[in-house]
Amino acid sequence: MTDHIRIGVLISGGGSNLQAIIDACQAGRIDGRVVFVGSDNPDAQGLARATKHGIPTFVVDYRSIIKHGLDNRLPEDFDLDRVLAVQHVMEDAGAAQKRFFCTRAVAEARLLDQMAAYPFDLLVLAGFMRVLTPYFIDRVNKGPLNPRIMNIHPALLPAFPGVDGYGDTFRYGCKVGGCTVHFVDYGEDTGPIIGQRAFAIEPGDTLESVRQKGLKLEWDLYPQCIEYFAKKRLRVTIKRYPQKGQPALKRKIVEILP
Ligand code: GRF
Repeated sequence: MTDHIRIGVLISGGGSNLQAIIDACQAGRIDGRVVFVGSDNPDAQGLARATKHGIPTFVVDYRSIIKHGLDNRLPEDFDLDRVLAVQHVMEDAGAAQKRFFCTRAVAEARLLDQMAAYPFDLLVLAGFMRVLTPYFIDRVNKGPLNPRIMNIHPALLPAFPGVDGYGDTFRYGCKVGGCTVHFVDYGEDTGPIIGQRAFAIEPGDTLESVRQKGLKLEWDLYPQCIEYFAKKRLRVTIKRYPQKGQPALKRKIVEILP
């Protein structure tokens, strides 16, 4: 048991990916175990899945924190200017942007407090529908080349970032859809890609059938990517691509080691 990685999971909804991860751990397809499940949403149905498997759960109710806004005390170690700088928010950041990062910092400090009770090696976002800010990310990652937050996104990134990947893919008239597992960075669904799966979109498909095709692939892809992490097969490197007449393009990419 001691070699198993400890996996923390954050969810917002039904938790079918969480279930696939729990099942893969139990079946030995992931050399790991889920040590906590947290949610921003007290009504997330996935919480019951965790409880059924004896996994501890907690909730940080984002909605109520956001509603109470700046009545909430900011975490003492929160530096708004730094967050705005790394997010490349301009100096004239509006009040709404500042409020966004401040309320998220309050919520994220509570998440970190709850998570502190359960040491973990990897944090997995499984349908967690909240943007994580640099305040949180910097306190979880172990440095720029050692990310340890993974996300699954319902589209073939970098196409269709955002909240409705399958919907956006379908409405665009794409003939292929898919899902992507990536490490989380400061951008929205921009982090280095670990794995992708694709499926054909046929003339008779509906948004619902597209979603079902995609989810089925997610349940297979996510455990596989987590297992790569468990086996230390993921290496993040910075690649430089020279460009004519312009500074070299630098990209962080994930290599899958044999
Ligand atoms: C999945 O489609 C995932 O890609 C997206 O949210 C959905 C979560 O589904 N981020 P579930 O809660 O795991 O069933």
